[in-house]
Amino acid sequence: MCAERVRIRTTRLDLRSGLNIHDDVGRVDCADGNHFIAVTLNDEIIDVDDICSDRLEDKWREAQTDRDKVLFYILSQIVYPDFDTPRPEKFESPYALVDERDVVLLRWQGGKAIGFYTVKPTGTEVFSTKERYVMPVVDTAYIRSEYRNRGFGTEIPSDVVARFPSEDIGFSMPISSGMLKILRTFLTGRKEYRLRFWEIADCDIAGSQRLIWCRLKKAAL
Ligand SMILES: CC(C)(COP(=O)(O)OP(=O)(O)OC[C@H]1O[C@@H](n2cnc3c(N)ncnc32)[C@H](O)[C@@H]1OP(=O)(O)O)[C@@H](O)C(=O)NCCC(=O)NCCS
Repeated sequence: MCAERVRIRTTRLDLRSGLNIHDDVGRVDCADGNHFIAVTLNDEIIDVDDICSDRLEDKWREAQTDRDKVLFYILSQIVYPDFDTPRPEKFESPYALVDERDVVLLRWQGGKAIGFYTVKPTGTEVFSTKERYVMPVVDTAYIRSEYRNRGFGTEIPSDVVARFPSEDIGFSMPISSGMLKILRTFLTGRKEYRLRFWEIADCDIAGSQRLIWCRLKKAAL
């Protein structure tokens, strides 16, 4: 914990590429203990635990405002890696910041942003290989640990098929153990999606594409 009166260090964040935020964003840390304190947007403190009065409907919602995007930044680049540390043994990995075309969905609960998932739309080019995604691909997903095991993650496959109704859906590899369980439950109940959900690696889109249902069936043998 920080002492009562602390020295702070502010680091300017460049969120122009990726999140398309052109205003002033800063990360404030306690200079003595190196603890994260807050992110500011034009000198306004954006606290991930605050209740947003204009986001009181409990639902998944595309990030639209700079404030939404800063909350997404805090969840994906600070809270997840630093406080809910990804566990490699469960195939959880930290996430790079999104590309500009990626769709960012935030889960709102009681006015708080409690998780997210992101989608790479069809046609997105992979910088290193120049290959393009042939379907929307769920690239990242995360629910804050204190909100887990309440069904929020389970909503993700239903939400994504509702947003991309006539398309196959990809999931970036590696798919974590937690997400794989969610997909097993979803595909067990919704047979019509068994031939439409694929796992895909960005380093080799065409070569890596594999039906998730086949993988689940093989694992069950
Ligand atoms: C994977 C992840 C998104 C799942 O989120 P979640 O909100 O905990 O998911 P759910 O609550 O829907 O499901 C998790 C478990 O809770 C159970 N559950 C669902 N609703 C529940 C409820 N109301 N009460 C109790 N348990 C419940 C589910 O059956 C599931 O059980 P299982 O693991 O035994 O199958 C989350 O664990 C996470 O962010 N992990 C770190 C990052 C990650 O792995 N991302 C995915 C990368 S592919």
